[in-house]
Amino acid sequence: MAIKSLTELPVDSKRVFVRVDFNVPQDDAGNITDDSRIQAAIPTIKYLMEHECRIILASHLGRPKGGPDPKYSMEPVGLRLAQILDTEVMLPEEVVGDGPQKLAASMRDGQIMLLQNLRFNPGEEKNDEGFSKQLASLAEVFVQEAFGTVHRAHASTAGVPKLMKDKGMGFLVQKEVTALYKLLNKADHPYIAIVGGAKVSDKIAVLSNLLEKVDRLIIGGAMAYTFLKAQGIDLGKSRVEADSIDTAKKILKRAQQRGVEIILPVDHVATTDLKNGSDPVNISNREFPADLMGVDIGAKTIALFEEKLADAATVVWNGPMGVFEVPPFNKGTDAIAKLLARSSAFTVICGGDSAAAVKKAGLSAFMKHVSTGGGATLELLEGREMPGLKALE
Ligand code: 3PG
Repeated sequence: MAIKSLTELPVDSKRVFVRVDFNVPQDDAGNITDDSRIQAAIPTIKYLMEHECRIILASHLGRPKGGPDPKYSMEPVGLRLAQILDTEVMLPEEVVGDGPQKLAASMRDGQIMLLQNLRFNPGEEKNDEGFSKQLASLAEVFVQEAFGTVHRAHASTAGVPKLMKDKGMGFLVQKEVTALYKLLNKADHPYIAIVGGAKVSDKIAVLSNLLEKVDRLIIGGAMAYTFLKAQGIDLGKSRVEADSIDTAKKILKRAQQRGVEIILPVDHVATTDLKNGSDPVNISNREFPADLMGVDIGAKTIALFEEKLADAATVVWNGPMGVFEVPPFNKGTDAIAKLLARSSAFTVICGGDSAAAVKKAGLSAFMKHVSTGGGATLELLEGREMPGLKALE
């Protein structure tokens, strides 16, 4: 891909438009509960500050309905950013128009302005040309740093860079793209994918694409129950996606054709009461009673997964192994996080839940890469073209 990296761009003392993904989770009172995405863009922002740029940051936050909504204001994000950088962050009230234009024109070298939520303007999600032109007129250089949003063909991700000559990717996007394209095109073998989560239907495209690349596919989470059902194994009240049993059969068949080993759980943690996490029991596939539901992988399965991961050169992990948000059903997911933290393989963690589990266990630093993308990472692993990257070529 012919995309310039940040260090190749002529940014010195220029007005630089940086599309960031500051779509961070907030509690009901508007407090940011995880600032990882803000932290992830700091190296790029600091680089631009050191190069005396006038920095115009732009992001969406949540999914407002094409108009201003105080619930989705960028203000808490601006305050947190100012705190992290220990500097002033200007926050105009509008996304585009007189306010941001005047501020952009009067900014001094090294100053930062954070535009109001891009999705307050209906032109953003429509990739409206007029809106793109207004955004582009604020700056001389475009930096794509919103990895989590490169799968969206919106004005700020695809429209603006098309209008600008000097454009490229920030450090975060470069790091993400390097790690994820390695998984798609240049992975060392043995290459193992661990896929979990609730639904097969959410992951069909990613499973199908990875199946063409990996040597082994480990399946956990509730989606494993659908695969086991496809093999004729009944697991009581465990969540099975009836509509996806045929898809699971097709995936199993394709794996056989390609010689990809599929590894499914052999035992489970099961319960009658998911909400209170009460009375967990460890039960094998064969002994599973009709009145229980599986909520996590069992001890034998963890040992089996460990054995299958032992010689890995590359591992990609997406999706939890059980209902990890309800302890003690987090044990299987935590065990995978620990196994990968100890592994010498090129380990890449994808998807919000797996990344959150790794972070909660304090193990992020032991992984080769923890992706900041949700939908973007999955779509990239599906092999789809990313509009927010294409526009940088
Ligand atoms: C994300 O959180 O995945 C990105 O910020 C994209 O958000 P969106 O799904 O609302 O486009």
